[in-house]
Amino acid sequence: MADMPSAFWSGWISVLTLTSLAGMVWLVWSVYFDRDRGHEQEAGPVWDGNLKEGERPAPMWWFWLLFGSLIFSVVYLMLFPGLGSFAGLLDWSQGSRVAESYDDYEARFAGVRAEIAEMSLAEIQNDTGLMAVAERIFRRECAACHGSEGRGQADMFPNLHDVDWQWGGEEEQIRQSIRSGRNAVMVGWEAVLGEEDIGQVGDYVLSLADGVDEDHQGKAVYDRNCAVCHGADGGGNTLLGASRLSDRIWLYGGESQDIRESLVNGRFGVMPAFDEQRLDDTQLQLILALLVR
Ligand code: HEC
Ligand code: HEC
Repeated sequence: MADMPSAFWSGWISVLTLTSLAGMVWLVWSVYFDRDRGHEQEAGPVWDGNLKEGERPAPMWWFWLLFGSLIFSVVYLMLFPGLGSFAGLLDWSQGSRVAESYDDYEARFAGVRAEIAEMSLAEIQNDTGLMAVAERIFRRECAACHGSEGRGQADMFPNLHDVDWQWGGEEEQIRQSIRSGRNAVMVGWEAVLGEEDIGQVGDYVLSLADGVDEDHQGKAVYDRNCAVCHGADGGGNTLLGASRLSDRIWLYGGESQDIRESLVNGRFGVMPAFDEQRLDDTQLQLILALLVR
């Protein structure tokens, strides 16, 4: 209530509350103690010989109950927020309750969290409890893109449990992929190469898994245009995020029309950065334990 739009509404609510309280007091009082009421009832109709409409006061314990509730309301409104923007004598608020329990939580777990952040990946991997926590974090932060098991999806989001790491599979490299994000850039080749070369080099790319074929029609185009990033043997380059083309693992699909699509339009995969606000050091360490082998 401290955020009332104006003093007028705060005052209005206080007046309404206090007036209704006073009204209740008057009502209760008049029912029990107004001696003048009910006398004219005595001349009312009589049924079945002696059954008359009359009036008996409600029992006294009922009066004390109502009286007690009214006193309680007054005391409550004095101590707690309730009357417009009056904060109450105790200065209690839900917000501060939440802040207090958060501080409690921090104080209780800060030590444990710092310890986990310092643990080695092997130690975490040996602790099934911590690994379960890691999986929960992964499902919350990463699964929307990488799939609930991290096995990739939609020919768009890479599998994080295979041997193929576009940006490198060492602990430091994966840490960097997550903390700083990754922007993969391969611009389209249509304007540079033309339809025929694209077909041939695509074909050559698909053959790289069987080793370099010196006589392949597409090899010259590949060596001239692609080898700088993807390597002469298609081994890839983790500094550029240039995919390994020789392992039969494809992010964007391995059919010849998928390769063609990659070449014609280019590919621009974006892994968002997860800074300390989104993933603190403890959570990052747990996720690394999940991904690094
Ligand atoms: C400037 C560096 C660079 C050059 C030159 C380059 N690529 Fe790429 N290529 C990349 C990067 C980076 C990616 C990853 C794109 C992504 O993940 O979104 C990629 C992705 C690909 C893919 C998709 C791989 C997958 O897993 O689906 C194919 C196919 C490919 N390149 C083929 C080629 C061919 C053929 C050429 C030469 C005509 C070429 N690239 C030239 C950087 C390059
Ligand atoms: C909005 C979608 C999205 C979310 C959320 C996301 N990622 Fe990614 N991630 C991607 C994309 C797309 C790529 C591929 C980038 C590229 O083409 O190189 C990627 C790449 C990666 C890579 C590099 C893979 C490689 O082969 O080198 C790692 C590691 C990774 N993500 C981990 C994570 C983790 C851990 C989380 C959760 C904390 C996460 N990602 C959340 C979209 C996402």
